[in-house]
Amino acid sequence: MTMAFTLQLGTPVNTALFLFILYSVQRIVFPSISKPKSIPREFKAGYSWMPKTHPPTVLFKTFTPKTLEPFSGKDGGRILLAINGIVFDVTAGRNFYGPNGMYGNFAGRDASRGMAKQSFDIEMLTPIDQPLDKLTDLQADEIDNMRGWIDHFSNKYIICGKLVENGAI
Ligand code: HEM
Repeated sequence: MTMAFTLQLGTPVNTALFLFILYSVQRIVFPSISKPKSIPREFKAGYSWMPKTHPPTVLFKTFTPKTLEPFSGKDGGRILLAINGIVFDVTAGRNFYGPNGMYGNFAGRDASRGMAKQSFDIEMLTPIDQPLDKLTDLQADEIDNMRGWIDHFSNKYIICGKLVENGAI
């Protein structure tokens, strides 16, 4: 068996094939991490190149008012806000929600009431150690207004979690 293999490997065509297979396998096992001249758009080329790092991903998480609050962007980090239980990553809107932003009050907070009532006053916010704002007193047009903002945010920002009561996780 070994002899037959050695003999066959001896033929030029088989040697060439064998080297080609070795080369192909090493390209799969050790893909090149240097940036290609052009980003591969084809499936065929895609397999012979791997980016150095995975593109950033956003993990869907469950937040409470207390765990959401640190994401206010005051430290230059991520900015999150919630509307009707949906948590949006609004870091890209730092000009709006950053410490000097017009809507900075909403950063790290449940912004539902403010969005519904079209007000960024501090009274729109529920203290973070209190139960979630149930919004039961809102008028239909205010709820509609809030829904409109949810649409706007869904089109512009990434949904990265949901907001639940303190102590629910
Ligand atoms: C003084 C009156 C106001 C002025 C002059 C004003 C102005 C603006 C401007 C210029 C934008 C940017 C629009 C864009 O580029 O897409 C904006 C967006 C926005 N405004 Fe106002 N606004 C006012 C009042 C309010 C109030 C009372 C609220 C309370 C909810 C509010 C909430 C927002 C929000 C949530 C956005 C979207 C930001 C985003 O896309 O991330 N605005 N406003």
